[in-house]
Amino acid sequence: MRIAVVGSGYVGLVSGACLADFGHQVTCIDSNEEKIAALKAGVMPIYEPGLDQIVAKNGKANRLVFTTELGKAVREADAVFIAVGTPSRRGDGHADLSYVYAVASEIAANVNGFTVVITKSTVPVGTGDEVERIIREANPDADVAVVSNPEFLREGAAIEDFKRPDRIVIGIEDERARAVMTEVYRPLYLNQAPLMFTARRTSELIKYAANAFLAMKITFINEMADLCEAVGSNVQDVAHGIGLDKRIGSKFLHAGPGYGGSCFPKDTLALVKTAQDYNSPLRLIETTVAINDQRKRAMARKVSRAIGPDIRGKTIALLGLTFKPNTDDMRESPAISIVQGLQDGGAKVRAFDPEGMEAAKAYLSDVTFGADPYTIAEGADALVLVTEWDAFRALDFPRLKGLMKEPLLVDLRNVYRREQIARYGFRFVSVGRPREDINAALSSAAE
Ligand code: UGA
Repeated sequence: MRIAVVGSGYVGLVSGACLADFGHQVTCIDSNEEKIAALKAGVMPIYEPGLDQIVAKNGKANRLVFTTELGKAVREADAVFIAVGTPSRRGDGHADLSYVYAVASEIAANVNGFTVVITKSTVPVGTGDEVERIIREANPDADVAVVSNPEFLREGAAIEDFKRPDRIVIGIEDERARAVMTEVYRPLYLNQAPLMFTARRTSELIKYAANAFLAMKITFINEMADLCEAVGSNVQDVAHGIGLDKRIGSKFLHAGPGYGGSCFPKDTLALVKTAQDYNSPLRLIETTVAINDQRKRAMARKVSRAIGPDIRGKTIALLGLTFKPNTDDMRESPAISIVQGLQDGGAKVRAFDPEGMEAAKAYLSDVTFGADPYTIAEGADALVLVTEWDAFRALDFPRLKGLMKEPLLVDLRNVYRREQIARYGFRFVSVGRPREDINAALSSAAE
């Protein structure tokens, strides 16, 4: 099957490469000439484990090509995926659909024969209707079926998620699209991944509902972590205890500094706006958004409290900056608010991240970057674990203690346990677990 993927960003590139790996003939298109030139030379625009190998392998087999020319690829395609960005519109938080609509017009001018046009970008309910209207208006002879097929990829695990999905959601209004989409995903279908066909508007909402639910689940456990700290319980045990209930499930119950990234913050906001527009507000999600925003900033206060009454002039070393490990993505990372909060308090901030330091420079100022955890720890008053990269899971604590001014670890991802750290003479603060002084604090609260 011949497939064109318009937009070679995160979603387009991963989808295009994996579809080529299934044996389809794929052309990835992007208007950014530098990006396409780099991809042709085998240089990936993003850090995603395994992506470069899949691109190289399928490029060599001539199943995957890159171009800036949309016309030819669309004319030859049986299926055209739209995978361009839908950033938050400045000012109101609505998804900005101008790129999606511009691509729809270009597709309209080039389609040839029956073609399935699939929106893979995360788009609000009703966008498929509008894409169809644009194509029909621009080219009344176009024979297209417009389909919604949201992606559920996680950055850092995108290849695995594409090849072993929990489900594939496909929203169709034209029955002819069913056979084409089944063919696109045949290898997954043969692997028994559920292909769920539904109406287009429902499919569009499923994507937002999934992300909103996950964001809410994280926010739930984050608030529970605060309560655990207040009452002397352990949030990891609470998460385990509730997660064993199959109706709840154990995933996405890791307390931390708040969710970030290019998806949850943007999608929750867009869903809230859509719901308000339709006069059907989603108050749970509105609250989730507010709590998460406050939490990121609150993490700077948590670090400050751990250090002492005043952080002015203190040196604080951050381990990890990206919104999660295995990515170089800094978008909406909690690290941004944490750095800002610490600098506002007068602290000097140093940082190390295995992949994100280049990207971080656009988001942070006055941060001293170091080559590894030990360089930034030298003379520091506190070490703060912000992102749970594997590289931070086995730190050399005796060495760190020798380097630091004060041996203090604030672990915002609960990578370590107090017993592990205390024996090296470190003070330890984590998220939602009993504090050192909890018994004294509880008995004085009871008095
Ligand atoms: C998320 C969804 O997980 C994907 O299914 C979806 O396709 C994607 O958004 C999207 O809409 O494109 P992603 O943003 O890559 O994927 O990252 P996640 O692994 O979901 O993590 C998001 C944030 O939540 C991170 O900041 C992470 O640290 C945080 N998180 C996650 C927690 O704080 N606790 C958890 O238990 C899980």
